[in-house]
Amino acid sequence: MLWAAILLFCSLTAVSAASNTITGKVDASTVVTAIGGDVGSIFAVQTETGDTRVIYQSLINNNIMQFNAVGPFVNTSSVTEPFLLVPGANVLRGTPIAGYIIGPAFTTYGFYFLSPNLTVTEWYWLASNGIHFGSGSACPDCINNFGFAASANTIGLYAMAKANGGRRVGFLSSDQSAIAEIDRAATGAPYILARLPPRSNN
Ligand SMILES: *[C@@H]1O[C@H](CO)[C@@H](O)[C@H](O)[C@H]1NC(C)=O
Ligand SMILES: *[C@@H]1O[C@H](CO)[C@@H](O)[C@H](O)[C@H]1NC(C)=O
Repeated sequence: MLWAAILLFCSLTAVSAASNTITGKVDASTVVTAIGGDVGSIFAVQTETGDTRVIYQSLINNNIMQFNAVGPFVNTSSVTEPFLLVPGANVLRGTPIAGYIIGPAFTTYGFYFLSPNLTVTEWYWLASNGIHFGSGSACPDCINNFGFAASANTIGLYAMAKANGGRRVGFLSSDQSAIAEIDRAATGAPYILARLPPRSNN
């Protein structure tokens, strides 16, 4: 009886803390209402203040979408309508998405994913001049111009970034069928494929 009273008290407290707090199982209809359901890979970045960009693949049309939230969901009453970042024709169905942020605020953030022909592809935002995406002159320094192909067995990617434009993208390369990195020393430097180094003997 005492336990029942404590549990009831706890659940009432949780509900009153934030109306979007979920206790127990997530109701699928809640997710569908928020972003249309059928979500593939997801990735997010936040600034020092918690301002958040959530990026995901919609498996309805393979589009990569973004919505914005002002902070952790537990403290956030609404998010923006999702909007298109990359049309599905340019995105492998089931692609992994891996990215980074460099502050302060959203100075730059971006992510890597696979195109339908398994080319490692990127999209990035610069606060100074907006979106960078596409091939050739549309985005001269985008990694996809370098033509690195991932293995068809790829499940994940990783990405790391430095403020000088240095980048490291980890992937399962088609020629080595092992984890390799595509590395760039700084903005303007070429992307170079680096094979998995051998294990040390000790
Ligand atoms: C939510 O907001 C409360 C009140 O400002 C704060 O104490 C708490 O740490 C926040 N939760 C998260 C996950 O940031
Ligand atoms: C792969 O597809 C991209 C567009 O999604 C295209 O720019 C690129 O040329 C293609 N690469 C090959 C090797 O077919």
